Amino acid sequence: MPQTLLAHPGEAVHPILQVHPRDPRGLLQILVQVQQALHCVPEEAVSLIADHLRVTRAHVRGLVGFYSFLSDTFLGDYVIYFSDNITDRMLGSQGFTKYLCSRLGVKLGKVRSDGRVSVHCTSCTGMCDQGPAALVNGLPITHIDRARLDRIVDLVAAQTPVSAWPAEFFQVEDNFRRSDVLFRRAFEPGAALKSALLRGGDETLKAIHYEESVDPASGIAWKRGAYETLKELYRSDLRGRGGAGFKAAIKWETCRDIPASERYVVCNADEGEPGTFKDRVLLSSYADMVFEGMTLCGYVVGAGKGILYIRQEYWYLKPHLEAVLARRRAAGLLGRNILGTDCSFEIVLHWGAGAYICGMESAMIESIEGRRGKPRKRWPLPVVEGVDRRPTVVNNVETFAAAAMVGLKGGAWFAGHGTMHSTGTKLFCVSGDCERPGIYEYPFGVSVREILRDCGGLEAQAVQISGPSGTTITRPEFDRVLAYEDLSTVGTFMVFGPTRDMFEVVQNFTHFFQHESCGLCTPCRVGTSLLANLVDKVAAGKGSPMDLDEVLKLSQLMKTTAHCGLGQTASNHLIDSLVKFRGDWEKRMMVTEFEPAFDLDASLEEARQLTGRDDSAAHL
Ligand SMILES: Cc1cc2nc3c(=O)[nH]c(=O)nc-3n(C[C@H](O)[C@H](O)[C@H](O)COP(=O)(O)O)c2cc1C
Ligand code: SF4
Repeated sequence: MPQTLLAHPGEAVHPILQVHPRDPRGLLQILVQVQQALHCVPEEAVSLIADHLRVTRAHVRGLVGFYSFLSDTFLGDYVIYFSDNITDRMLGSQGFTKYLCSRLGVKLGKVRSDGRVSVHCTSCTGMCDQGPAALVNGLPITHIDRARLDRIVDLVAAQTPVSAWPAEFFQVEDNFRRSDVLFRRAFEPGAALKSALLRGGDETLKAIHYEESVDPASGIAWKRGAYETLKELYRSDLRGRGGAGFKAAIKWETCRDIPASERYVVCNADEGEPGTFKDRVLLSSYADMVFEGMTLCGYVVGAGKGILYIRQEYWYLKPHLEAVLARRRAAGLLGRNILGTDCSFEIVLHWGAGAYICGMESAMIESIEGRRGKPRKRWPLPVVEGVDRRPTVVNNVETFAAAAMVGLKGGAWFAGHGTMHSTGTKLFCVSGDCERPGIYEYPFGVSVREILRDCGGLEAQAVQISGPSGTTITRPEFDRVLAYEDLSTVGTFMVFGPTRDMFEVVQNFTHFFQHESCGLCTPCRVGTSLLANLVDKVAAGKGSPMDLDEVLKLSQLMKTTAHCGLGQTASNHLIDSLVKFRGDWEKRMMVTEFEPAFDLDASLEEARQLTGRDDSAAHL
């Protein structure tokens, strides 16, 4: 790949700039394309981009430094990222990473001296049901084993372009193991929009007022229209599926009611929580349903533009998503005059670049606006001041899919499933030690045990609900139910078998949060690092009871003082582990007295090497 281009990065960058207007909000999308073309963002490209967008070079470099998939140095013709999620590790990813590095003759995180290849680790790639997984030049490779790696070594040696690698390497399965009422059959494109738009005759998107959907004579609603659609959403009691469980109807109505010349609809497909992959499956098999939910939302709130913010790990879905959008445009379900009405709505894709924090809605909006993904102040909420400081609905992929079904079948139908406070069904991403990992749809209220039975994981000693930021459930708790009344969840369901060392799980989670902290606030920036040091200290057999107390103290401090949800939930798993799996910590502790985590003498090793000294005076 582009050794020659690297000598002249401008040649590759110019065509990319030509298709992007001089709008700083497009910066991240330009950088993503440049990185893909050159496998780095070289200084010359920084200058060209900065001049094109009329921003400072420091601003461009700031983004390159922030997003994991951007790099200011060339990463090689073949850039390989192994997924470092705990479930990939349980499937042997660490051994496979070492094996590939040694076969390729490359150090982890470094580029081989001939510039051909580099191997790295990244947080979860969202293929937990078909791991171990990796990304090669942005494309996912699943079910990694030694035979596959040997083949990769040959392909790299032969300089075979990735586009000519065996297609079966890149096969991504849906593994939809159980469907319930929402995802039982294919969604008919336009079905929900027709029930909202067509009965109302010539309603226009922006001129809809509540009274218009009520017959003045009888007071009875005579057409669905925007207001009735919203009422159906209220009846459904649909709660957001992205984690917090906020009621969708309240969010939509708030957005609609704030006076504004423009509003936005953002679909959150960042799906960065390790162990979560349902949004990938929805976008792969139910993209129409998701886009329909977004369009319905645009109609209800009076927004003309929708943005699908999607993690770059799912780049392989780009042709499929663009094809679905094109088909919807051709069918009159997107664009101007949807279904012949005055309703207009367009959807664009916006790619992330490897930052878990960008799943948090205000950080995502910063990213959409071409900045680093740093969370904003809590108030005003994005629904009041979101994209371009305009009212913005941010909902999860699954929330929009469910909203489309509410639009189609009505709120009462939806609310007839699930529990009193958790209506409808939920997708669960089952991975780890079980026979049938994959996606399972259940009505809310299903017990942990029932899912374990269905996926073949009843032997489990623990289940991590809702990812590293969620809750660790042990055997005596397996009759607890998944619903806001008991265990709220984004849908992640990681199964840990009876022989797993649960300390290794927390060590992986702790490092995940240390890596993903955006660094904005001190409690999280420093706290996640201190926690990682303490956990590593215990892992090295140097921990003392004082260190465990320190872990708890820091965890509590972060919960109450961190600026956003990442820092506030980053220690949940540690607190659970210290209560439920204390034995796994204590068996590593060979000292009862406090030992410093920092080895002052070892830290002088580099200086000793540089000065060529190893005498006693060079040691402490
Ligand atoms: C650190 C962090 C990461 C998040 N990641 C996601 C994500 O990947 N997908 C998602 O839908 N919501 C995520 N959220 C929640 C969003 O901020 C937001 O609440 C959600 O997208 C709203 O959609 P919903 O109401 O449909 O759940 C995250 C929150 C935090 C604090
Ligand atoms: S809590 Fe962590 S992720 Fe959130 S703003 Fe603070 S440093 Fe950033």
